Amino acid sequence: MQNQYSLAQSPEYLAQIGQFKADVVINSPGRVNLIGEHTDYNNGFVMPTAIDKTIQFHLRKNGSKSLCSISSLNYNTTYNFDLNNTNLNDAEWTHYIIGVVEEIKKLGKSLEGFDCLMLSNLPMGAGISSSAALECGLAMGINELFDLKLTKLEIVKLSQLAEHNYVGTKCGIMDQFASVMSVENHVIKLDCESLEYEMLPFAIEPYKLLLLNTNVSHSLSTSEYNVRREECEKGVALLKKWYPEIDSLRHVSLEQLREYKSEFDSTIYARCEYVVEENLRVTQAATALENNDLCTFGKLMYASHDGLQNKYEVSCKELDFLTEFSKDNEAILGCRMMGGGFGGCTINLIHQDAVEEYVASAKEAYYKKYNLNLTAFTAMPSNGGERV
Ligand code: GLA
Repeated sequence: MQNQYSLAQSPEYLAQIGQFKADVVINSPGRVNLIGEHTDYNNGFVMPTAIDKTIQFHLRKNGSKSLCSISSLNYNTTYNFDLNNTNLNDAEWTHYIIGVVEEIKKLGKSLEGFDCLMLSNLPMGAGISSSAALECGLAMGINELFDLKLTKLEIVKLSQLAEHNYVGTKCGIMDQFASVMSVENHVIKLDCESLEYEMLPFAIEPYKLLLLNTNVSHSLSTSEYNVRREECEKGVALLKKWYPEIDSLRHVSLEQLREYKSEFDSTIYARCEYVVEENLRVTQAATALENNDLCTFGKLMYASHDGLQNKYEVSCKELDFLTEFSKDNEAILGCRMMGGGFGGCTINLIHQDAVEEYVASAKEAYYKKYNLNLTAFTAMPSNGGERV
């Protein structure tokens, strides 16, 4: 894989950007999630933060009433479209663009023609939300360029809707929320039901967050994601027979669930049990963080992976291999798959002195096993999207 960071700095790109003369520049980050996976669309808790990898948007008005052009420098491709005739084409990334534009129009905002250049050091398909960075960054850029006065929360919500309605993933709100709202050196404990949140200080020295990218992205991810969502809904529908007041897994206790285990299809039960347990783990992890108890935090990460692998079944052999491999190294307190699953990264809580040696050994073992390269990078909790 190319080193996307150095690409973003290349003189060729800097020259193109210099000539472009943007009116507005936005940095829009990807995110990590420490714990709380597949809980957001179940109205539960998550613990994400934006990271120091971004898509940068350079935007300018072009004087036309409705013609727009968006170019990706990294991928050397341009998409031209008309605001009044935004038909979807085959390239998936353009669906995010059209989704954002259409969702902004639905809010009654009027737009005019604009040009946009994008460059990125955020790997795609790695489970660190390049999609949310794309949606939210474009929405922020358009908001600033046309002075639309959208609030941050409106940007979060319209970006999520863009993904639902124009990409087809019925994602939760975590990624967009983290990409927009994060504050550096903090993680967000977000209640996805009320959208109330706490910014938890994240001072973990001498530990670091290390991401190991499997560089696989199994094609199941979108379809299986929507299937998981439906399975959880089926679980809630069944539980309503005995607990009519319940409208999401957020409000189900383990005891309530276990009482009717025999009434469940075993797969649906496993999905529900994972979600209920994962919500509990987020709350326990927040307490561990407040107490500076990174050992407990790490154990919760391992338990989260175990649930994702065996009960929720959204992991894959490459992610499981890396998680198992980490267990032999005492400098690693916790490791788990991150994001939607079926590929992407593991997130590791690792002592800073061990990073280099561990990355070398993990790369070697991974290559030996799968004949694939592993990509590694550390991530810092960073600010959400902002104008630069
Ligand atoms: C994807 C979705 C999020 C969330 C995670 C799993 O990243 O976009 O909303 O559901 O998967 O936690």
